Amino acid sequence: MARISTRITDLLGIDVPIIQAPMGWIARSQLAAAVSEAGGLGIIETSSGELDNVKAEIAKMRDLTDKPFGVNIAQAFVRDPGIVDFVVDQGVRFVTTSAGDPTKYTAQLKDAGLTVFHVVPTLQGALKALDAGVDGLVVEGGEGGGFKNPRDVASMVLLPLVAQHTDVPIIAAGGMVDGPTMAAAFALGAEGVQMGTRMVSAAESPVHDNWKQAIVGAAETDTVFLNRHSRPGLRALRTERTTELERQDSVDLGEAFGSVLDLYFGGDLEAGVALTGQVAGRIDAVRPVAEIIDECVAGFHETIARLGRYGAAT
Ligand SMILES: Cc1cc2nc3c(=O)[nH]c(=O)nc-3n(C[C@H](O)[C@H](O)[C@H](O)COP(=O)(O)O)c2cc1C
Repeated sequence: MARISTRITDLLGIDVPIIQAPMGWIARSQLAAAVSEAGGLGIIETSSGELDNVKAEIAKMRDLTDKPFGVNIAQAFVRDPGIVDFVVDQGVRFVTTSAGDPTKYTAQLKDAGLTVFHVVPTLQGALKALDAGVDGLVVEGGEGGGFKNPRDVASMVLLPLVAQHTDVPIIAAGGMVDGPTMAAAFALGAEGVQMGTRMVSAAESPVHDNWKQAIVGAAETDTVFLNRHSRPGLRALRTERTTELERQDSVDLGEAFGSVLDLYFGGDLEAGVALTGQVAGRIDAVRPVAEIIDECVAGFHETIARLGRYGAAT
């Protein structure tokens, strides 16, 4: 497989800078190992709060692949005050922190020798993360699926803005799906991409086929942004339930989420909220992870070769 060498691949010891997004219950060994085996980086979630299961999943990763992988700490969901010790004890080398204050865990993680990237939705957040001492940033545009800053900013604006004011390696998230989007992210200053919705739809993703087919069938307008006027905002698949919730100024998320497991694994899309990004509108089929990654790498090279033909300015 063709490699793409950047500061991200060097730091993480991977072949291509394609990262699978952390996602509660979904980002477990079956999906993450497929991504790491294909040359990218799988990430194991902790946002489910099921740390015993997470521990078992990390052990499974070591059976399934000898390639690197990471773990995410989604701070808003942390119930166990010992989460940093938990992650360090698992022997992982790379952590992304998200949904919270970067000053909270960065020093402790860095002291333990881990590489730390923080997920940011704004320039201000990026500068704060740099002050906290992170090694890099995941810059997440508001078109992405999942929890969001209610004042959402699209990747097209956010990425070059953050890149202009920082010099650490950037992983672009939000709308990343193929070679052209990866090349666009690189043009805007990123050195890697993170895919959430694309990976939910992958063959190795553990979610029910109903959700995957809903992504395949979705138009680019088929997501909703909930809680725009209170916190946290979130982007999810448009269903009858979420179309109702979209009209509310403030959504009680505990109630809105309903039965996560009935939705994720039982396939009842009205049982809860299916976190999904706008890029669902660009996903046409359920594909194995290795195919997604190989095509992305090939499409990246094709895109930059095509752009190279415009040549130097005369
Ligand atoms: C189902 C789902 C669950 C997610 N859960 C998390 C999470 O636990 N932690 C986190 O940092 N981001 C989470 N996210 C956000 C993703 O990490 C990622 O940044 C986002 O999906 C990127 O946009 P995309 O959906 O356009 O690829 C989630 C996204 C989805 C779609």
